[in-house]
Amino acid sequence: MDLLENMTDNLSAILVIFGGTGDLTHRKLIPALYNLVIDKLLPKNFSIVAVGRRNKTEEEYKSDMYRSLQEHSRNKVDERHWRKLASMLHYYQFDFTDLKGYEGLKNFLDTLDKEANTGGNRVFYLAVAPEHFETIVHGLHISNMTKKHGSWSRLIIEKPFGKDLKTARKLNNKLLEVFDENSIYRIDHYLGKEMIQNIMVLRFCNSIFESIWNNKFIDNVQISLTEKLGVGNRSGYYEHSGAIRDMVQSHIIQILSLVAMEPPINLKTDSIRTEKQKVIEAIEDITPGFLKNNVVFGQYGKGYIDGIPVPGYREEPKVPADSNTETFVALKLHINNFRWAGTPFYIRTGKRMGSGSAEIVIQFKDLPNILYFKDKEIQDPNLLVLRIQPNIGVFFQFNTKDFTTYDGIVPTKMDTSHFSAKQGNTPEAYERLIYDILRGDATLFPRWDEVEAAWSFADRIIQYRENKISQFPNYDAGSMGPVAAFELLARDGRKWWNI
Ligand code: BG6
Repeated sequence: MDLLENMTDNLSAILVIFGGTGDLTHRKLIPALYNLVIDKLLPKNFSIVAVGRRNKTEEEYKSDMYRSLQEHSRNKVDERHWRKLASMLHYYQFDFTDLKGYEGLKNFLDTLDKEANTGGNRVFYLAVAPEHFETIVHGLHISNMTKKHGSWSRLIIEKPFGKDLKTARKLNNKLLEVFDENSIYRIDHYLGKEMIQNIMVLRFCNSIFESIWNNKFIDNVQISLTEKLGVGNRSGYYEHSGAIRDMVQSHIIQILSLVAMEPPINLKTDSIRTEKQKVIEAIEDITPGFLKNNVVFGQYGKGYIDGIPVPGYREEPKVPADSNTETFVALKLHINNFRWAGTPFYIRTGKRMGSGSAEIVIQFKDLPNILYFKDKEIQDPNLLVLRIQPNIGVFFQFNTKDFTTYDGIVPTKMDTSHFSAKQGNTPEAYERLIYDILRGDATLFPRWDEVEAAWSFADRIIQYRENKISQFPNYDAGSMGPVAAFELLARDGRKWWNI
């Protein structure tokens, strides 16, 4: 595909990045844009305006970005592609909390439009702390930057989208005063990962999977996103977030909805989003009584990761010594519809765990306890593992004769996955997401009603946790989480698969 050459004028645009000197821009956005240049996936007429408060010349800004690229780009930086990117890149200095400054930005963009032939189309990327989202959108509104006859404006908003249902609704209403729903792109970088996009392909392109993808054949589903990393320098944010807001409300619910959704009537954005939303709505009502037995919270204490000593969460910089924030959560839930009633979904996520991976395990039901199952006491169920990262691909376990013995039976492991360094929180997911936004394809972005349903689910867990006294820390860094998380499955005669 050669979109630099082939994109129509209507895809021409100026990408305005608020937070142009911030971490996200350095580590993810500029490397993603650079690789889109290499792959010729940017529109022919395209400019990038990085907005920042810092006093810098455009040349200084470009030098900073060049250095970041060398550190974070998946492709080696070569002069030819860098020059192409640099020719599109501009730095505009202003303090976005000062509403008077927006008029100047508008004039700057209008002038650039003429030079770069970008047709008045705008993509506004809010790569800033969430407390600034509403201010910036208001500034864009009062300066008339979002509505221009014959052109379009889109808004990209990073997570967290609110900190509970109430704040998310308030934020959404503010955004809707200025942008319509179809122009709002809420980033969940997990949806940019190859294997997450592959869930629908595997399910809906393979009769062998789709025909048994239900409660008659599936014993349980496990979604496990574990990290070796701790909170790093993000404790200011994480302390008020915790694992439920940070991972469950967004990434895990999105994965769950793709695993459990009904086949959409077609592959159009809204058909897919509607089916995903229905799954989130169908999660059983999780009352405090239910949560008492079905959720486990954890916080890491000190320990060892790959043999290296690491501090506990409460000893991390800027974390209060009595912090009650959860860095781990495990939960059992049910989806109350005809396809899934009775099949539990176990979800688990945590920081500073012994292994860092993202996987979906589908455990199939055992056959009746007769024939081989009775005589040979077969222990190993059929497992289908969708490996998201660091390995990417599909693993399947099935039973077969042990050819080294007379009549033994052994599980065989068929593994199509391979290690892929690009599947972590890397710029690659952003490449796909930015590319889709420029084309106006919102399929990989949660629609508001999905976010709303995810918050009403997460809120009930958050409220329960806030009223609960936890004995933290309750797992060592480098372990696989609190003992209670293992008991959660053991009570049901199951275990977490880690294969
Ligand atoms: C982010 C969370 O959304 O996802 C982080 O805020 C987390 O806390 C990260 O570390 C995990 O992403 P990935 O792609 O590295 O699994």
